[in-house]
Amino acid sequence: MKGGDGVHEQISMCPDMIETKQQDKAPKKEKEKPNMDYCTATKAMQILGLSRHTFEKTIKKGQIIASEINGKRLYLVSALQEFMQTNCYNDLVNGSVDPRNSLNDLTGKEWLPETKSYLYQKGLGANHPEAQIEKLHPAPYSFQDIGRLIRFFTKSGMIVLDPFGGVGSTAKACEVDGRKCISIELSPVWHDLSIKRLETEVGEGTSSHHHFINGDSCTELPKLPTDSVDFMVTSPPYWGILHKKDQKVIKNRVANNLETHYSDSEQDLGNVESYTDFLEILVNKVFIECARTLRPGRYMAIVVSDFRDKNKFISFHCDLINALNRAAIPDGGILTLQGTKILIQNHKSLLPYGYPFSYVENIHHQYILIFRKEKKAARKK
Ligand SMILES: C[S@@+](CC[C@H](N)C(=O)[O-])C[C@H]1O[C@@H](n2cnc3c(N)ncnc32)[C@H](O)[C@@H]1O
Repeated sequence: MKGGDGVHEQISMCPDMIETKQQDKAPKKEKEKPNMDYCTATKAMQILGLSRHTFEKTIKKGQIIASEINGKRLYLVSALQEFMQTNCYNDLVNGSVDPRNSLNDLTGKEWLPETKSYLYQKGLGANHPEAQIEKLHPAPYSFQDIGRLIRFFTKSGMIVLDPFGGVGSTAKACEVDGRKCISIELSPVWHDLSIKRLETEVGEGTSSHHHFINGDSCTELPKLPTDSVDFMVTSPPYWGILHKKDQKVIKNRVANNLETHYSDSEQDLGNVESYTDFLEILVNKVFIECARTLRPGRYMAIVVSDFRDKNKFISFHCDLINALNRAAIPDGGILTLQGTKILIQNHKSLLPYGYPFSYVENIHHQYILIFRKEKKAARKK
């Protein structure tokens, strides 16, 4: 019999198992009787949830040792169960965080799916008790979707900026994942609700972990230090789209006593009359300023959608890319586009726009524009 038939002798080379072995040398107490059931390799792979290839690798490394019983190679079930409690096993199943990884806390296995160019929107659903504050806002995004971006683009404890904070979806995602949020929101109504949202949905006192600013991003951002933020994620107003939105959607919100636009303030980017002026302010007063606050090498993600203005299709995401890609940042550096992830909104109802005369798109996706701040010196204007 290889390695004896005791539970601990079955497994070696794994530091936390070695520790278990040493503990066994302590003065003898009343010991629980070990489970002496044995199983075949196929059953062992099933218990461990490992492929044959990985299973054989663990045997080669001596992490699992077979016992020869009546000419058969068998595995002690309790030893397998004990192996499942170790970090070695956890690393096998989930992978481990590469020590060179300065971007996030993800293992290779967790990293890979996040590089897909699309993701399906996931929310709590309008009737969920924790969606009641979010529902009051005319255009919130899902804190769960944003949580995925935050987990990919930051490590625990890092600083995330949202210059259009709304009802605090970014702050909530930060709290859930142990990051710190700077959230700027113009409307006092949404600002107050975002604080209330954390206090009621996540836990009393949690809003104090974050910096909630009630003000205009165009004047608040210049007050933030250069190279101080680790990630920026936001969804800006889509020009005046809320004022032009589908009449049915507006009627529904009015009937339910819900706001149909963000505010009546002149500083509200959703109230700027001309699209050209709106883009100019959004790019130069907000996003370029956000880029200045970003640490070099770090990322910003902007969630936007294209939209129609009467019969005209406005490719807002293209306009933003054209304005921001390789834009010079005051104090140095440029922004470079890294990807345009598509956020699929498969739950939206199809409306018969244009039928039966013309193609009028049901826009059921958003773009997540991902830019990186590169160290390059600012170009001359
Ligand atoms: C698309 S919403 C963001 C919603 C947010 N992501 C959430 O999930 O709650 C855009 C927000 O930007 C705010 N806003 C508009 N102009 C602003 C400005 N100049 N400075 C700061 N916030 C502004 C609006 O009041 C609105 O809440």
